[in-house]
Amino acid sequence: MKNIAVFVSGGGSNLQALIDRIKSGDIFGKIVAVIASKPGIKAIERAQMSGINSYVFQKSEHSTAQEMFEEINSLLKSLAVDLVVLAGYLTILPQSFVSGYKNRIINTHPSLIPAFCGDGCFGLNVHKQVLEYGCRVSGATVHFVDSGTDTGPIILQQPVSVLPGDSPESLQQRVLLAEHELLPQAVKLFCEDKLWVEGRTVIIKQ
Ligand code: GRF
Repeated sequence: MKNIAVFVSGGGSNLQALIDRIKSGDIFGKIVAVIASKPGIKAIERAQMSGINSYVFQKSEHSTAQEMFEEINSLLKSLAVDLVVLAGYLTILPQSFVSGYKNRIINTHPSLIPAFCGDGCFGLNVHKQVLEYGCRVSGATVHFVDSGTDTGPIILQQPVSVLPGDSPESLQQRVLLAEHELLPQAVKLFCEDKLWVEGRTVIIKQ
């Protein structure tokens, strides 16, 4: 059984998808902590509703990001966390934190990486750019986190068609539904020790 920490910054619909899949018995893992980047967000409410402890770590309350992540790291160590899941978490992780969890941090991104990703490409902005470019297809990507922004080895991807008349909001909603499938699936594979990273390629063991 793997211990999981889920990092959130907003609505937490991906957190909910994970909670639901774990409750259904489909994932051999346990969410031992939700780490929130600000108070009062819906994701915290979702954690509380499911009896999961949540902790708020705000950059404004720490002198440096480094110091904040050292505190987060101590907490994760005390909870024996095996896997960190970034589910709409908007704070950039320092290199020291990332290297301590090599191939043990999973992120979800609402586009088909390497398109529409990288610095500043998050939230509704991603979908606005997809529509402005005139893409026919967008999608969701779940990947391991490395030292870059959205550059780590890809675990799963799912295309989502862009429909005539789509707004950034309507496209965002359909991509979110794809993320709700992909993220729990990737976490399930991790918890079953079925993910193996060779260079940039993630091998999924059968
Ligand atoms: C998701 O689209 C995720 O990819 C992006 O932010 C959104 C988070 O949604 N980084 P939620 O908080 O899980 O509802």
